[in-house]
Amino acid sequence: MSKKIYLYGNWKMNNTYSETEKFFVDFAPAYAPFKDADDLEVGIFAPFTSLWPLSQGAKKCGIVFGAQNVYYEPKGAFTGEISIPMLKEYDVTHIILGHSERRHIFLESDEVIAKKTKAVLDAGIIPVLCYGETLEERESGNTFTVMERQLRSAIDGLTDAEKAKIIYAYEPVWAIGTGKTATPDQAEEVCAWSRKLIGQPKAVILYGGSVKGSNAKELLSMADIDGALVGGASLKPASFLEIYTAYKA
Ligand code: 13P
Repeated sequence: MSKKIYLYGNWKMNNTYSETEKFFVDFAPAYAPFKDADDLEVGIFAPFTSLWPLSQGAKKCGIVFGAQNVYYEPKGAFTGEISIPMLKEYDVTHIILGHSERRHIFLESDEVIAKKTKAVLDAGIIPVLCYGETLEERESGNTFTVMERQLRSAIDGLTDAEKAKIIYAYEPVWAIGTGKTATPDQAEEVCAWSRKLIGQPKAVILYGGSVKGSNAKELLSMADIDGALVGGASLKPASFLEIYTAYKA
Protein backbone atom coordinates (compact mmCIF):
# COMPACT_ATOMS: atom_id res chain seq x y z
CA MET A 1 0.00 0.00 0.00
CA SER A 2 1.20 3.50 -0.73
CA LYS A 3 1.70 5.83 2.23
CA LYS A 4 -1.34 7.26 3.94
CA ILE A 5 -2.05 10.88 3.00
CA TYR A 6 -3.61 13.30 5.46
CA LEU A 7 -5.65 15.94 3.68
CA TYR A 8 -6.75 18.52 6.23
CA GLY A 9 -8.67 21.68 5.42
CA ASN A 10 -8.34 24.76 7.60
CA TRP A 11 -11.25 26.98 6.68
CA LYS A 12 -9.93 29.86 8.82
CA MET A 13 -12.60 32.57 9.23
CA ASN A 14 -14.71 31.31 6.32
CA ASN A 15 -18.02 29.46 5.99
CA THR A 16 -21.01 30.43 8.12
CA TYR A 17 -23.38 27.85 9.57
CA SER A 18 -25.56 27.81 6.44
CA GLU A 19 -22.55 27.88 4.11
CA THR A 20 -21.18 24.84 5.95
CA GLU A 21 -24.45 22.99 5.41
CA LYS A 22 -24.24 23.88 1.71
CA PHE A 23 -20.60 22.78 1.54
CA PHE A 24 -21.59 19.27 2.65
CA VAL A 25 -24.39 19.06 0.07
CA ASP A 26 -21.61 19.20 -2.54
CA PHE A 27 -18.86 17.51 -0.55
CA ALA A 28 -20.76 14.29 0.27
CA PRO A 29 -21.16 13.09 -3.35
CA ALA A 30 -17.71 14.43 -4.33
CA TYR A 31 -16.09 12.50 -1.47
CA ALA A 32 -18.10 9.28 -1.95
CA PRO A 33 -15.61 7.71 -4.41
CA PHE A 34 -12.78 8.19 -1.88
CA LYS A 35 -14.66 7.10 1.21
CA ASP A 36 -13.11 3.64 1.29
CA ALA A 37 -9.59 4.67 0.25
CA ASP A 38 -7.38 3.28 3.00
CA ASP A 39 -4.52 5.61 2.11
CA LEU A 40 -6.47 8.83 2.69
CA GLU A 41 -7.61 10.66 5.82
CA VAL A 42 -9.63 13.81 5.27
CA GLY A 43 -10.26 16.37 8.00
CA ILE A 44 -11.95 19.77 8.14
CA PHE A 45 -11.45 22.53 10.71
CA ALA A 46 -14.20 25.12 10.88
CA PRO A 47 -14.98 28.24 12.93
CA PHE A 48 -16.68 27.52 16.27
CA THR A 49 -20.07 28.75 15.02
CA SER A 50 -20.00 26.22 12.18
CA LEU A 51 -19.00 23.23 14.30
CA TRP A 52 -22.50 21.82 14.56
CA PRO A 53 -23.17 21.53 10.81
CA LEU A 54 -19.53 20.47 10.37
CA SER A 55 -19.96 17.67 12.89
CA GLN A 56 -23.15 16.47 11.22
CA GLY A 57 -21.68 16.56 7.71
CA ALA A 58 -18.34 15.08 8.74
CA LYS A 59 -19.92 12.19 10.66
CA LYS A 60 -22.11 11.30 7.68
CA CYS A 61 -19.10 11.33 5.35
CA GLY A 62 -16.76 9.60 7.80
CA ILE A 63 -14.08 12.31 7.93
CA VAL A 64 -12.39 13.76 10.99
CA PHE A 65 -13.18 17.29 12.07
CA GLY A 66 -12.25 19.89 14.59
CA ALA A 67 -11.79 23.46 15.72
CA GLN A 68 -9.05 25.95 14.91
CA ASN A 69 -8.27 27.04 18.45
CA VAL A 70 -9.27 26.48 22.08
CA TYR A 71 -8.43 27.86 25.51
CA TYR A 72 -6.59 25.65 28.00
CA GLU A 73 -8.62 26.41 31.14
CA PRO A 74 -11.74 24.24 31.54
CA LYS A 75 -14.03 27.11 32.55
CA GLY A 76 -14.18 30.45 34.28
CA ALA A 77 -13.80 34.17 33.74
CA PHE A 78 -12.22 34.16 30.26
CA THR A 79 -14.55 36.35 28.23
CA GLY A 80 -14.71 35.37 24.59
CA GLU A 81 -12.87 32.07 24.96
CA ILE A 82 -14.03 28.51 24.20
CA SER A 83 -13.04 25.56 26.42
CA ILE A 84 -12.13 21.98 25.64
CA PRO A 85 -15.24 20.58 27.44
CA MET A 86 -17.36 22.83 25.20
CA LEU A 87 -15.75 21.37 22.11
CA LYS A 88 -15.96 17.80 23.41
CA GLU A 89 -19.75 18.07 23.31
CA TYR A 90 -19.40 18.47 19.54
CA ASP A 91 -17.28 15.29 19.43
CA VAL A 92 -14.32 17.09 17.87
CA THR A 93 -11.41 14.72 17.42
CA HIS A 94 -8.69 17.24 16.49
CA ILE A 95 -7.89 20.89 17.25
CA ILE A 96 -5.47 23.13 15.33
CA LEU A 97 -3.07 24.91 17.69
CA GLY A 98 -0.39 27.52 17.15
CA HIS A 99 -1.39 28.49 13.64
CA SER A 100 0.79 31.35 12.42
CA GLU A 101 -2.26 33.61 12.23
CA ARG A 102 -2.83 32.99 15.96
CA ARG A 103 0.85 33.56 16.69
CA HIS A 104 1.26 36.71 14.60
CA ILE A 105 -2.15 38.43 14.49
CA PHE A 106 -3.40 37.41 17.95
CA LEU A 107 0.05 37.31 19.57
CA GLU A 108 -0.22 33.83 21.05
CA SER A 109 3.01 32.97 22.79
CA ASP A 110 4.93 29.70 22.75
CA GLU A 111 3.99 29.34 26.41
CA VAL A 112 0.27 29.61 25.76
CA ILE A 113 0.49 27.21 22.82
CA ALA A 114 2.36 24.72 25.04
CA LYS A 115 -0.39 24.89 27.67
CA LYS A 116 -3.05 24.39 25.01
CA THR A 117 -1.16 21.42 23.54
CA LYS A 118 -0.96 19.68 26.91
CA ALA A 119 -4.60 20.40 27.81
CA VAL A 120 -5.83 19.10 24.46
CA LEU A 121 -3.77 15.91 24.79
CA ASP A 122 -5.04 15.41 28.35
CA ALA A 123 -8.58 15.58 26.98
CA GLY A 124 -7.87 12.79 24.50
CA ILE A 125 -8.06 15.11 21.49
CA ILE A 126 -5.34 15.27 18.82
CA PRO A 127 -3.54 18.62 18.53
CA VAL A 128 -2.62 19.70 15.01
CA LEU A 129 0.39 21.75 16.03
CA CYS A 130 1.48 24.38 13.53
CA TYR A 131 4.90 25.96 13.36
CA GLY A 132 6.98 27.78 10.78
CA GLU A 133 9.19 30.73 10.05
CA THR A 134 8.46 34.15 8.56
CA LEU A 135 10.19 35.37 5.42
CA GLU A 136 12.37 37.66 7.51
CA GLU A 137 13.41 34.76 9.74
CA ARG A 138 14.23 32.61 6.72
CA GLU A 139 16.21 35.33 4.97
CA SER A 140 18.22 36.08 8.09
CA GLY A 141 19.15 32.40 8.40
CA ASN A 142 17.05 31.81 11.50
CA THR A 143 14.55 29.28 10.14
CA PHE A 144 15.71 26.37 12.24
CA THR A 145 16.33 28.38 15.40
CA VAL A 146 12.78 29.74 15.29
CA MET A 147 11.23 26.38 14.57
CA GLU A 148 13.25 24.63 17.21
CA ARG A 149 11.97 27.15 19.75
CA GLN A 150 8.37 26.74 18.57
CA LEU A 151 8.52 22.94 18.57
CA ARG A 152 10.52 22.41 21.74
CA SER A 153 8.39 24.79 23.79
CA ALA A 154 5.30 22.78 22.86
CA ILE A 155 6.65 19.23 23.19
CA ASP A 156 9.50 19.22 25.71
CA GLY A 157 8.08 17.65 28.84
CA LEU A 158 5.58 15.49 26.96
CA THR A 159 5.89 11.71 27.00
CA ASP A 160 6.93 9.86 23.84
CA ALA A 161 3.36 8.60 23.48
CA GLU A 162 2.05 12.17 23.65
CA LYS A 163 4.62 13.40 21.13
CA ALA A 164 3.62 10.60 18.78
CA LYS A 165 -0.05 11.48 19.03
CA ILE A 166 0.38 15.08 17.89
CA ILE A 167 -0.02 15.86 14.20
CA TYR A 168 2.63 18.40 13.23
CA ALA A 169 2.08 20.99 10.50
CA TYR A 170 5.01 22.87 9.04
CA GLU A 171 3.65 26.05 7.56
CA PRO A 172 6.21 28.61 6.39
CA VAL A 173 4.47 31.94 7.00
CA TRP A 174 5.70 33.33 3.68
CA ALA A 175 3.87 30.57 1.81
CA ILE A 176 0.48 30.98 3.49
CA GLY A 177 -2.19 32.55 1.32
CA THR A 178 0.49 34.08 -0.88
CA GLY A 179 0.44 31.66 -3.79
CA LYS A 180 4.16 31.10 -3.06
CA THR A 181 4.76 27.48 -2.18
CA ALA A 182 7.87 26.15 -0.56
CA THR A 183 9.69 24.02 -3.08
CA PRO A 184 9.34 20.30 -2.41
CA ASP A 185 13.01 20.27 -1.34
CA GLN A 186 12.55 23.18 1.07
CA ALA A 187 9.46 21.58 2.61
CA GLU A 188 11.11 18.16 2.81
CA GLU A 189 14.24 19.58 4.42
CA VAL A 190 12.20 21.07 7.26
CA CYS A 191 9.89 18.08 7.68
CA ALA A 192 12.82 15.64 7.82
CA TRP A 193 14.61 17.91 10.33
CA SER A 194 11.39 18.14 12.39
CA ARG A 195 11.00 14.37 12.50
CA LYS A 196 14.46 14.08 14.04
CA LEU A 197 13.84 16.86 16.54
CA ILE A 198 10.50 15.37 17.58
CA GLY A 199 12.24 12.04 18.02
CA GLN A 200 9.27 10.03 16.79
CA PRO A 201 10.04 8.33 13.48
CA LYS A 202 6.35 7.71 12.80
CA ALA A 203 5.06 11.19 13.70
CA VAL A 204 2.59 12.58 11.17
CA ILE A 205 4.02 15.75 9.63
CA LEU A 206 2.00 17.89 7.24
CA TYR A 207 3.09 20.72 4.99
CA GLY A 208 0.89 23.80 4.63
CA GLY A 209 1.17 26.90 2.47
CA SER A 210 -0.59 27.38 -0.87
CA VAL A 211 -1.10 23.66 -1.47
CA LYS A 212 -3.33 23.00 -4.46
CA GLY A 213 -3.92 20.42 -7.18
CA SER A 214 -1.11 21.77 -9.35
CA ASN A 215 1.63 21.36 -6.72
CA ALA A 216 0.22 18.47 -4.68
CA LYS A 217 2.01 15.59 -6.36
CA GLU A 218 5.54 16.91 -5.98
CA LEU A 219 5.00 18.01 -2.36
CA LEU A 220 3.12 14.96 -1.12
CA SER A 221 5.57 12.58 -2.80
CA MET A 222 8.38 13.74 -0.50
CA ALA A 223 9.46 11.10 2.02
CA ASP A 224 8.83 13.11 5.19
CA ILE A 225 5.64 14.90 4.13
CA ASP A 226 2.61 12.90 5.26
CA GLY A 227 -0.06 15.26 4.03
CA ALA A 228 -1.25 18.81 3.60
CA LEU A 229 -2.90 21.46 5.74
CA VAL A 230 -4.86 23.39 3.17
CA GLY A 231 -6.36 26.86 3.50
CA GLY A 232 -7.85 28.49 0.40
CA ALA A 233 -8.17 25.32 -1.69
CA SER A 234 -10.17 23.57 1.06
CA LEU A 235 -13.13 25.93 0.72
CA LYS A 236 -14.51 24.15 -2.35
CA PRO A 237 -14.93 20.35 -2.40
CA ALA A 238 -13.51 20.08 -5.94
CA SER A 239 -10.30 22.04 -5.31
CA PHE A 240 -9.84 20.30 -1.95
CA LEU A 241 -10.21 16.72 -3.20
CA GLU A 242 -8.21 17.49 -6.34
CA ILE A 243 -5.14 17.62 -4.08
CA TYR A 244 -5.48 13.89 -3.43
CA THR A 245 -6.39 12.95 -7.00
CA ALA A 246 -3.44 14.97 -8.34
CA TYR A 247 -1.11 13.19 -5.91
CA LYS A 248 -2.42 9.79 -7.00
CA ALA A 249 -2.35 10.60 -10.76
P1 13P B 1 -3.29 28.48 2.19
O1 13P B 1 -3.45 27.07 1.68
O2 13P B 1 -4.47 29.35 1.85
O3 13P B 1 -1.98 29.07 1.79
O4 13P B 1 -3.28 28.39 3.79
C1 13P B 1 -2.41 27.50 4.43
C2 13P B 1 -2.75 27.47 5.87
O5 13P B 1 -2.47 28.40 6.60
C3 13P B 1 -3.45 26.29 6.38
O6 13P B 1 -3.49 26.30 7.77
